[in-house]
Amino acid sequence: MDPHHIKDILFTEEQIRDRVAEMVKEMAEECRNKEKFVMIGILRGSFMFFADLVRELNRDGVHARIDFTTLESYGAGTESSGTVKVVKEFTVDVNGCDVFIIDDILDTGRTLTFAKEYLYSKGAKTVRTCALLDKPSRRLVPVEADYVGFVIDDHFVVGYGLDYDNYYRELPYIAKVTFTGEKGAE
Ligand code: IMP
Ligand code: MG
Repeated sequence: MDPHHIKDILFTEEQIRDRVAEMVKEMAEECRNKEKFVMIGILRGSFMFFADLVRELNRDGVHARIDFTTLESYGAGTESSGTVKVVKEFTVDVNGCDVFIIDDILDTGRTLTFAKEYLYSKGAKTVRTCALLDKPSRRLVPVEADYVGFVIDDHFVVGYGLDYDNYYRELPYIAKVTFTGEKGAE
């Protein structure tokens, strides 16, 4: 039996598509016509969102240099370890660039805070942030993203790039995880 119950869909494929399109409308103005514009996706959770976002932005005339960095604050579970590690460096020289960081979810706020400071330390001129999901009730570091897709309650969610121990990233929708033994689990 599947150890996790992932049938409670929070956002369908269509809802995600519509919201991403709206976000692009909100972001495009700011992203267009920048001379040195870099978009950095935080792997691995943002890969699907990032791919959809940059394609949609391109249709609105936004052209960015694209890079990725792998940051980790989680082990195999659902609790953040507290420290953020650079597992894979980005390679673009961001010195003097306007940088946009894209993440899957803003939870304790540690990852985004770290990423912002890290990019400024590498010489970025401006750093703006975008997260598909935001769990404000979990925040330990006071940080907000400049653009947010959906605000959610304190649930552990998977799909559309988000994982539980690297499972479920491929789901085209976002669902709540209920762990075996919890109320509502099968
Ligand atoms: P933060 O540093 O605590 O804000 O954590 C951000 C990272 O934790 C995200 O980029 C995700 O990789 C991971 N994360 C936080 N909440 C969830 C969740 O509900 N599902 C899957 N990953 C999560
Ligand atoms: Mg992540």
